[in-house]
Amino acid sequence: MNTIRDLDLKGKRVLVRVDFNVPMDAEKNITDDIRIRMALPTINNILEQGAKLILCSHMGRPKGQRVMDFSLAPAANHLSAILDRNVLLAPDCIGEESETLVAAMQPGEVLMLENLRFHNQETENDAAFAEQIARMADVYINDAFAVSHRAHASVVGVPAYVAEKAAGFLLQTEMDFFHKAMDTPVRPLVALVGGAKVSSKLGALQNMLDKVDSMIIGGAMANTFLKSQGVDMGASKIEEDLLEKAREFEKEAEKKGVKLYFPVDFVAADRFAADAVIKNVTYRDIPEGWMALDIGPASTSYFQEAMADARTIVWNGPMGAFEMDAFARGTMAMCQVVASSHALSVTGGGDSNAAVKKSGEAANISYMSTGGGAFLTLMEGKTLPGVEALK
Ligand code: 3PG
Repeated sequence: MNTIRDLDLKGKRVLVRVDFNVPMDAEKNITDDIRIRMALPTINNILEQGAKLILCSHMGRPKGQRVMDFSLAPAANHLSAILDRNVLLAPDCIGEESETLVAAMQPGEVLMLENLRFHNQETENDAAFAEQIARMADVYINDAFAVSHRAHASVVGVPAYVAEKAAGFLLQTEMDFFHKAMDTPVRPLVALVGGAKVSSKLGALQNMLDKVDSMIIGGAMANTFLKSQGVDMGASKIEEDLLEKAREFEKEAEKKGVKLYFPVDFVAADRFAADAVIKNVTYRDIPEGWMALDIGPASTSYFQEAMADARTIVWNGPMGAFEMDAFARGTMAMCQVVASSHALSVTGGGDSNAAVKKSGEAANISYMSTGGGAFLTLMEGKTLPGVEALK
């Protein structure tokens, strides 16, 4: 895979696929600009090389409609403020007007194309659409790790039409950290996996059995595993159709010598609400009709112990319904444990990253991936179409 350093960009039209799909509040203020900031090394390098910089991205899921709520204008303004230079927003990502704006660009100028997903052809990976974008570029750079699991036009279609292509620094950094943590880890390698559903992470769990030394499973997905062991989980969220799969998974882990850790106690609640009645109970004592919404203090100590000797930790998914303060303690405790560990720590997924940010420990995590679905795709052992397209 080529990187920017392999290319001479001076005077060229360089199209960079970024992922500026950033969260915003009702007033369109960007509430987390990490994806924009993480693209700065690439952006600055291209500008320093005296190229014309054209950025393209999606924002949300407007489903082929030109919905201005999904405009990239806030991202363009935000980038302009960070760079302290003008970032012009083209009214569309294809068409005559955009092409005219590109043709008029001088080296060092920045143009952002409007939301790619205003056109259905983006998600359909339409060849003619990709060619229309590609004709505005001499060089294509992918620095959009977080969308590189999508075989969309701007991710896999456009590079096929541009002669020179490379990975940006963010994409490269993401791939390097993941590779270091999962493929060539300093052992023991411990995976900490949480989140709501076994079903959405089964592929990742299975793939990781071939890689990790031990695995800690928390969050609502642990309920299904415990139920499959015969534990009465009360009214906790369970995926009944996966009980057999959960049992098979445990057998496979045993065969492969991967130690599994499950919660031994919970914060149980009488209903799924921030003001629910709650109490700490062991896994055997969930009252009838109550549900497990966070791991309890004994589980925290148990999991901390499980990570004590880790030299590498990969974390995806929270330990409970951490968006409600009453059920955030377990996830927050894991943030402290991972952050204070001497292991190489890599986290991915919107929820885990939001939790790490909330805990104030972001600076003590070795690497926080900007990807959710893309990170999970790598955890599943699959390749990313966006990376393949650069080869
Ligand atoms: C993300 O936020 O995970 C990426 O920007 C991809 O967005 P998508 O799930 O809408 O394709």
